[in-house]
Amino acid sequence: MSHALSAKKFIAYKRDGHEHSPDELKVWLDEFLADRVPEYQMSAWLMAVFFRGMTPKELSAWTDLMTSSGATLPRSAGAFSVDKHSTGGVGDKPSLLLLPIVQTVAGRLWGQGKVKIPMMSGRGLGHSGGTLDKLDSIPGFRSRVNRDEALKLLRDNDYVMMGQTDDLVPADRRLYALRDVTGTVESLPLIVSSILSKKMAEGLDGLVLDVKFGPGAFMATREKARELASKLVEVATLRNVKTVAWLTRMDEPLGYAVGNALEVQECIEFLSGEARDKGLYDVTVTLAATMLEIASKGSLSFEAARGEIAKELEGDRPRQSFETMVLAQGGDLKKFAESKHVAEAEYRTIEIKAPKAGWLAKAEARTLGEAGLSLGAGRERFDAQIDNWAGFRLLKKVGDQVKSGEVLCRVFFRRNIQEGPLVERLSGAFEISDESVAVLPWCAERL
Ligand code: URA
Repeated sequence: MSHALSAKKFIAYKRDGHEHSPDELKVWLDEFLADRVPEYQMSAWLMAVFFRGMTPKELSAWTDLMTSSGATLPRSAGAFSVDKHSTGGVGDKPSLLLLPIVQTVAGRLWGQGKVKIPMMSGRGLGHSGGTLDKLDSIPGFRSRVNRDEALKLLRDNDYVMMGQTDDLVPADRRLYALRDVTGTVESLPLIVSSILSKKMAEGLDGLVLDVKFGPGAFMATREKARELASKLVEVATLRNVKTVAWLTRMDEPLGYAVGNALEVQECIEFLSGEARDKGLYDVTVTLAATMLEIASKGSLSFEAARGEIAKELEGDRPRQSFETMVLAQGGDLKKFAESKHVAEAEYRTIEIKAPKAGWLAKAEARTLGEAGLSLGAGRERFDAQIDNWAGFRLLKKVGDQVKSGEVLCRVFFRRNIQEGPLVERLSGAFEISDESVAVLPWCAERL
């Protein structure tokens, strides 16, 4: 590929719909990573893939090549490593709850050290939040751990919550940056290889996927979400990783809170039993039970796992486990509680009220997510600053009965924003019906 003409031929080959061999793909990626294929040629090829797709053989080879483009975590001997991946949404916080829940149930059933969760998460972009930003709202929390630290935390605590290290899947970082500016993000094989290369680099034995659909999700329709989920399951399973996907809805925010620190606060309330939104409970317990079911290798059914989780959530051990994890990574929950009091005193609060009595029929996730973004709860660009306590808390969820004038949502912010347009925008996300509203299942389908 050192000769410009062969790069040109390679691109044209895909443009004309032919299949690359694994060896050709390897040379192509190696040459790009060694800066011998310029970004404009890689971009052209990505666009060719966007239109022509990849054959199953190409997708398998490309995923493996991306995975091995950097360091990987070893598969743990004598333990089952399992993680979950969510395609992201508004108020999407189960990741923070899954770890302590799975760790405590697995520890009670099978003893410490048998199930490991190397959870690698991303930052938020656009209207959808990122687990790392949520964790970083805890004073002192270090999400940037290197490979050795991650291995130590996994050895000591059975789990780690970390961001992608610089040496992990460098190919994805470079390719994603190009896709982002060349209109090639929305390509099924490129999404599948991007997501799975990062998950495969964690050395997993099992993977649970939460593929969201609806206006607040990456995949707007259930059909598109199913198509992505089934490809992800197919490719991960071929890599010897036991994989299950759930299609979950993202038409309204998940749980009560939207905003980084507000969501951590909701997770603490969830774990201590103070407040548990039904949808958040359902999605979290479904994903956690699937992780346990997979890790049990046939000895624990999904239903039995749900029962074990419900039992565990009656006690305090998941909350303690969450505290241990935060502490192990430098976080200080006391300071977090103090920062909440400071924010309560300093931030402006406005309330969105029901214009009439009835039942809440809609709390539109994308409109609410975008409003949260404008408050400072998310970032429009990769390098934008997050305002930890900015966001809102829903007091009513779809299906709830509401009185006229009752508060639907309480908004927190300190940016210099005009209240009138903000209230109008947020109010537009809610719809009240004169008749009672059926709540659709959060976890719609399992693949
Ligand atoms: N998330 C990823 O990690 N990669 C994609 O390509 C799309 C979503």
